[in-house]
This record gives sequence, C-alpha cells and structure tokens, in this order.
Amino acid sequence: MTIETSPDPETPEVPETEAVSTLIGTGGEWWRSAVIYQIYPRSFSDSDGDGIGDLPGITTRLDSLAELGIDAIWLSPFMTSPQHDAGYDVADYCDVDPIFGTLADFDLMLEKAHALGIRVIVDLVPNHTSWDHAWFKEALAAAPGSPERDRYMFRDGKGPNGDEMPNNWESVFGGPMWERVTNPDGTPGQWYLHIFDKSQPDLNWENPWVRERFHDILRFWLDRGVDGFRVDVAHGMIKEAGLPDYTPPADAGSMGGGTADALVGLEPGIDADASADPPTPPYWAQDGVHDIFRGWHSVLEEYEGERVLCAEAWVEPLTKLARWVRPDEMQQAFNFTYLSAGWDAAELRTVIDGSIAAFATVGAPSTWVLSNHDVVRHASRLALEAENLQGAGIGPNSPGLPDPVVGLRRARAATSIMLALPGSAYVYQGEELGLPEVIDLPDSARQDPTWFRTDHEKYGRDGCRVPIPWEAGSPTYGFGPAGSTASWLPQPGDWDELARASQEGVADSTLELYKRALALRSLHGLGTGTLEWIPGYGPEVIAFRNNGVTVIANLGQTPVELPAEGPGEVLLTSEPLNEPALPADTAIWLL
Ligand code: BGC
Repeated sequence: MTIETSPDPETPEVPETEAVSTLIGTGGEWWRSAVIYQIYPRSFSDSDGDGIGDLPGITTRLDSLAELGIDAIWLSPFMTSPQHDAGYDVADYCDVDPIFGTLADFDLMLEKAHALGIRVIVDLVPNHTSWDHAWFKEALAAAPGSPERDRYMFRDGKGPNGDEMPNNWESVFGGPMWERVTNPDGTPGQWYLHIFDKSQPDLNWENPWVRERFHDILRFWLDRGVDGFRVDVAHGMIKEAGLPDYTPPADAGSMGGGTADALVGLEPGIDADASADPPTPPYWAQDGVHDIFRGWHSVLEEYEGERVLCAEAWVEPLTKLARWVRPDEMQQAFNFTYLSAGWDAAELRTVIDGSIAAFATVGAPSTWVLSNHDVVRHASRLALEAENLQGAGIGPNSPGLPDPVVGLRRARAATSIMLALPGSAYVYQGEELGLPEVIDLPDSARQDPTWFRTDHEKYGRDGCRVPIPWEAGSPTYGFGPAGSTASWLPQPGDWDELARASQEGVADSTLELYKRALALRSLHGLGTGTLEWIPGYGPEVIAFRNNGVTVIANLGQTPVELPAEGPGEVLLTSEPLNEPALPADTAIWLL
C-alpha cells in the first residue's frame, strides 16, 4: 500500500445523482443518515454589529454550510426571551427575539436554506418557559389552586409557615429547584419548581391545557415549513407523583447522565424495555413523557414530507433511551453515551455496538455527536486529564487542563471515526475549524447561570459558546460586520489561523478534513451502510468496514502497521502520513 504524503485538498467530486439522492432521502428517510449542523445563533454570525449573532447573519453564511456538505441545520432557540439562559428561557414560542431579527428574517433564512437543499430544525423548549412568559405572569397573578397556577408546578411549602421547600431537589444549575413567590399583599406565598434557573419555571405536563398549547406551537412552526424540532430536556417533562425527596449519586452529570461506562450495559438484541435500569431520579425519564411524544408524532404526521423530532434526553442506559425513538414517538435521540465515552478504543467499540443494537431494537438509526453548546468542545475534552462532569465546564483553575495539540489531533481522529459510522451525525458550529474550548475567559465575561448559581464553583458552558471566527485580521474575526468590535463573549487573540477563511483550500486544515470526510461519506453512502468490525488489531485500535470503506484509528501511542494487502487507496487521513504506519491519535479511511 502506498501512502500519499497528504490528502488531496480538493474535496472529491460527488456525482450529481448521488447528491440528489442524499437530498431527497431515497433509500430511507433523510434523517436516518443526515449530517446535522448545530447553529448556536448568538455565536454564529452577527449582521448588525451588536455583538450577538442573528438570523440575517445565518442567511448570509448558508452558502458556506452548503459547501461544507451538511444536510440540515438545527438552530438553538431564537424565540422571544429575556436571555437568562441564552434563549432556553422562552417568553413567546411563536415569535423571534428582536436580538435575532424577525419572523420575516426567519422565513427568508428558511427559504434560502431549502433552496440550497439544507433542511431546518428548530429548538423547542417544552419543559419550562421563561418567567417572562404571559402564562407564568398569569399564574403569579392568580390564586393558589387556580387553573392558571396549574399550568406550572406550584406547591405549598412545608413547615408551619410553609417556609420550607416542598422537597430537597437540587437545580441542574446549582442551588435549590424551588423558588418562593410573594403574594400580591406582600406575604410569602407558594413555591414553584424549576429544574434549571429560577427564571425557567417548569410547566405542568399533566395538564391537558399545556399539551394542547404545545400542539399549537408545533403547528405554528410546521406551517412555516420547518423540517423538525430538537426537543430540549425531553426526559424532564413529567415528574414522579408526590415529588419524593431525592439525592443524586456523586457521579451523575448535571443532566442525569453518568459516565459512558455506566451508560452502556446492554447486549446486542436486548429488548428496549430493559427491566434492569439504574434508579431513575424522580424528575428525569418518567414513563409518562412517552405519551406526550406520541401526541407530537401525530401532529408531525399531519404534514407532508419527512419531519423529525430529536430528543435531547440524557438517559441511561441506551436500551432505555431507545424508548424515545420507538416508531410512534421521536425519530432521533442524541447519543450522549457516545459523546461521554473517553478516548479509549475498547470503550468506544462497546458504545458503538451498544448504540447500534439498542436503536435497532426499535427500528431507529443511531445518532452520533461529539460536541454541542452544553459540553466542553471535543478538541479540548478528549485531552482532559481530570474527570469533568457534563455541565461543569473548564476554566483557568480546573485540574488536568488539556494539551491543545493532543486535543486537536484526537478531535480530528474522533471526527474521522464518527463521520464513517452508519446513522446520523451532529456537528456543532466551530468544530469544523478545530476550535478548542476557550478556557481563560475573564470571570467578568462569564454568563452561564451555572457560574452564578454555584457561586463560581463550576465554570459552566461559556467556553464552548464563544463567537466563531470567519476571517483572520478583523476585530471579531468577521463574526460581526466590518468595523464592529462587539462580541457577546470575548474571542481569544490567537484565532487568526483557525478562522474559516484561513483554512479554506489549505491541505490538512481541519476545515478541509471535514469537507473531505462529508463528501466521501455521501459518496460511499456511509450514513446508510452497515458496520463490520475488522479483527486482528491491538486493543488500542478501532478498525471497521462500512460500505466498502475501511476505517482504522489508532487511539494509543504505539504506531500501528497498516494492512500490506487489501484496501490500498487512501481516501482520508486525520493527519498527514509519511510512512505506512498509523501514528498515535490518527485515523485513516481506505478503499
Ligand atoms: C439545553 C441547555 C439549557 C437547558 C435548559 C438543555 O439541555 O441544551 O443549553 O440550558 O436545556 O433549557
């Protein structure tokens, strides 16, 4: 086998028929194999120079996403919101927040995306509203026991004066899950539940009125032409009756997930109604949520085309998560077990097998994801030397900070593995540039409620949300318009080389690696293929075949010899190779 010194920077030509079939999804619904690019609107592209990205900014950059080769975009919330949790606190589900633009801007963006063959998924946040939502204001103005209060989780306090919280639950962002309200006459009143910030009161999903309103909201966006919804906290909407006290185990991530080791626990073919589930917290993954999603499934079916619901559900093990994607519920669920896996070949193999098997029991594709707006970017996470639970984030004083060179190398190899797997993959904006987590944000710039609610003990998620760089040499790296210096989180001073324009057409850049991998994935139908492990490699190697493409990744430190016989054409390497051996933290695709 001969090794080219570096991959050809040109992305391979994809025959037109192939491109069209990816677009219309022949051979299965489009979402079974789609690569879905997450846009975090406030950090993607700012058209008006206020330092916050917006919908017109997205519209102007859609061509660059089409060039990247993704199939769909998912937009984190851009609806009306006081922004106490960066838009995951919605005050009006059917309007656009002025900082992001208008509904007309949304329609234009959608139209252009569709014209480019890019589908559009919007984020829906049903577990809670903002405390600015009219429903919550009405609930506060109404008396205890009123229908308005029954839309939320109001309870009387314990103790003679009701001044003790109804139970001991701790908010995901730190501190208690309860906030007490003040009655119109100034006396202390009832308490309301908030899994997240106190500005995000939980809705009462046992109330049919709430269910009906969300059917209206789904139809509002479906009528505008969206292709689907990413469903926020899809494991949190129903709480155990009686709201019993609960203390989570120390190794549980803030969203309820643990480590990948704890999450797998399954055998191929195991029934999705596994009985040996770990104990379920009374506010996560209650059986009652499934009925809600069956209702949503029916609403989506009222519309033509293949619309999709994707669950953000931090549920373990995968056999249990598979219940979210039964044929009459959602189409996809984020595979956080995969995201949580360490840089370890054995662990990854187990998670990949477990994922494919668990989702197959319900006829759903597996999804794959390495980064999003809630976790440490994988170009840093994969080189962390200390445990870091989801949501904790990293900052200058965190233990075991990553070596950025090792991190990027592993990230490129990890992506090369992920994009070769059958199923659907999610890519988070900026990972195609190899962006690291921004660790040294000044404390005064941090905005994640986690940072405040834990009294600065946890840094939170700002480090993965810094506005992304488009061009070298301009004050916001082209995130804002010419002349603008505003950026809602400060960008590091050394991002010139990571800017998209600096990487365009540069052999071996991370951007070109993504483009090449995405084009090859489409050309060889990897998203719809079948994975077959290749035996004979050491424990630190991942080796599999998918639709005729051989993928080998060395997660260890000792170089791995490449096959002398068999596949010979190098399709892609995550690092330039100079000899016929695979160095540490490197992946290769062969034909
Ligand atoms: C979102 C977070 C958000 C939380 C509350 C999620 O899991 O992804 O960004 O803070 O829900 O809505």
